[in-house]
Amino acid sequence: MKMPKSVSNWISIIGAIFAINSFILIIILFIESLLSSHDNPYNGIFTYIILPAIMVIGLILIPIGMFVKRRRKSKEGEPKWPVLDMNSSRQRHRLLLFSIFTFLFLIVSAVGSYEAFNFTESIPFCGKLCHTVMEPEYVTYLHSPHARVACVECHVGEGADWYVKSKLSGLYQVYSVLFHKYPQPISTPIKNLRPARETCERCHWPEKFYAPKLDNRRTYLTDSLNSEWNVSMMMKISPNYNTMGLTAGIHWHINKDMRIEYIASTKDRESIPWVKFTNLKTGDVQTFQDTDNMLTQKAIDTLEHRIMDCMDCHNRPSHSYKSAPVFVDEGMMKGEIPTELPFIKKVAMNVLKGPFTNKDSSLRYIRDSIYNFYKIKFPGIYAGKKFLIDKAIAGIENEFSLNIFPYMRVTSSKYLNHIGHLESDGCFRCHSDRHKSTKGKVISKDCDWCHSFISQGPSNNLQYSIVNKTMEFVHPVDVKNNWKTYFCTECHRTLYP
Ligand code: HEC
Ligand code: HEC
Ligand code: HEC
Ligand code: HEC
Ligand code: HEC
Ligand code: HEC
Repeated sequence: MKMPKSVSNWISIIGAIFAINSFILIIILFIESLLSSHDNPYNGIFTYIILPAIMVIGLILIPIGMFVKRRRKSKEGEPKWPVLDMNSSRQRHRLLLFSIFTFLFLIVSAVGSYEAFNFTESIPFCGKLCHTVMEPEYVTYLHSPHARVACVECHVGEGADWYVKSKLSGLYQVYSVLFHKYPQPISTPIKNLRPARETCERCHWPEKFYAPKLDNRRTYLTDSLNSEWNVSMMMKISPNYNTMGLTAGIHWHINKDMRIEYIASTKDRESIPWVKFTNLKTGDVQTFQDTDNMLTQKAIDTLEHRIMDCMDCHNRPSHSYKSAPVFVDEGMMKGEIPTELPFIKKVAMNVLKGPFTNKDSSLRYIRDSIYNFYKIKFPGIYAGKKFLIDKAIAGIENEFSLNIFPYMRVTSSKYLNHIGHLESDGCFRCHSDRHKSTKGKVISKDCDWCHSFISQGPSNNLQYSIVNKTMEFVHPVDVKNNWKTYFCTECHRTLYP
């Protein structure tokens, strides 16, 4: 069967070459992705986005070429549009062939766009495609309790409008990566994160009861013995009896009958000078103001009032960057960093202050500094038990790579975790003993409100509380009563900046 004459022009031929070649490549890449076991985001971006785009451009070029040619011919007297004569069997076959091709093309592109949709929602697409930029978020994600929850479950909503919104901002992100316009680190809190009601609450609905939970922690002090210190706390997530629901305890804030609003005076929401809570059932309203940081009435009227949700406490559910004292403790607990090496905690802390500019030089700096310390201060160990030092270095390097990302300038202090109060003011942003209501009531900083201490001290000399009673907190090193009067952050943030 012959093609219409108008097809023989350069525009249509080039279009056909583009379309056919990209179609063949798509099929090859598609088969390859079916056969290979690991997913490669670059393969996906070619199979589902770039090649189909070239193919469609090629297909569009074919009729354009035909049209241009026909228009030229029509000036020479030939008809401008093809004459459709259904009585001619050649024409009928052409039309049939054209219909079959169009039908096949529509099916293939429907499957293709579905795959393209799935691909742009996949974890490799979000986490690996711009791997230097997303490395910190991706690495922490893989080590989080949400490692099997897809990025889009929290970052992109259901429905077409969220899809368009996220792909538009995605286009901007591709541009910003290509032209290096992205901030380092990526700024937070992110503006268009979906509200917790639509994300977290699909899997953890607020009425779900979580019993109080025992939280055991171990830290190592910076003395020569790396002395161990333990704290066990009962976290009062909820009341002791599940029939009481969310009427008390930490998750009281998300009780559907309560609405807590606040005004943050800094972009990172670290400083909260104004809090209001409304009991929706009784209509009782209370407003608290930080007496050290009073807002003017005009500021209260104009600044954003944010309604408290899961993300105000759990702001790092899947990208939690640990600070050096925490991740070194973890390395020591896991046995990656030998605790019998004198001063290893202190040395690690000093080295981990940086400065760090890129990963390779940082690892070299960690290695050299630790070798130097033991060579000079403990030549005996350096000569006889170098394997301990080697092991410690490997452990510290490993923990470093999971938590500090020099290229994106990411450390725990850039992305403060609002749960707790040791390194970020977290709960103490409101629970300060300074936030006073008009009636003179304060939001309490009483340790026992949120957790009760069950045991504390070194393993060989643990002190226990009496059953169902709390005991007073003992600060691991003597800081007099300062832990009662100061915020923990006032010392702890300066210990390891
Ligand atoms: C369990 C929910 C959840 C999942 C799953 C998740 N994220 Fe996030 N992500 C968050 C929250 C919450 C924030 C912090 C929002 C804030 O502080 O405003 C965040 C922040 C970010 C940020 C901004 C930088 C920062 O750390 O604040 C990036 C980039 C990001 N996520 C990328 C990803 C990628 C890529 C994946 C998948 C590999 C992913 N996220 C999976 C909840 C999630
Ligand atoms: C697609 C479902 C899903 C979504 C959406 C989701 N989570 Fe989770 N979450 C999980 C699963 C699964 C676990 C692990 C449960 C387990 O280990 O028993 C978990 C665990 C947790 C934990 C306990 C962590 C721990 O250390 O044990 C917290 C806190 C949490 N999620 C908060 C959040 C917050 C906040 C959001 C919203 C930003 C969120 N989740 C969104 C499924 C989800
Ligand atoms: C006032 C702060 C705050 C708010 C608001 C909050 N949580 Fe929590 N949540 C906590 C604390 C504190 C814990 C105790 C665990 C810990 O120490 O990490 C906890 C524990 C959890 C756990 C783990 C329970 C377990 O038994 O392991 C889940 C899941 C969880 N929260 C989900 C949510 C979800 C979903 C929301 C929003 C609907 C939410 N939280 C709102 C502070 C909060
Ligand atoms: C935005 C301000 C704000 C933040 C942040 C905040 N809270 Fe609260 N919290 C309140 C207010 C307001 C009350 C009610 C005070 C009252 O009744 O006097 C409260 C009450 C409580 C109660 C007592 C509930 C009861 O009645 O039994 C607990 C426990 C608690 N908060 C724990 C926490 C923990 C843990 C965190 C950090 C993870 C936290 N809160 C963060 C505002 C806040
Ligand atoms: C408003 C609630 C609240 C109050 C008040 C509070 N805490 Fe906490 N505290 C928390 C939460 C939540 C965590 C757990 C953070 C986490 O999951 O990492 C925590 C963690 C801790 C830890 C473990 C820290 C670590 O990282 O090893 C200690 C120790 C502690 N609190 C002591 C105190 C002392 C002492 C007081 C009284 C001066 C106090 N807390 C008052 C909510 C509170
Ligand atoms: C006056 C300063 C100061 C204040 C205030 C303070 N700390 Fe500390 N804290 C220290 C010092 C110094 C160390 C010892 C560091 C070391 O040797 O590793 C330490 C160590 C600790 C440790 C064990 C090791 C570690 O580094 O995590 C815990 C747990 C702790 N403090 C909890 C708290 C809590 C909770 C508060 C607030 C209620 C608080 N501290 C307030 C100075 C302070």
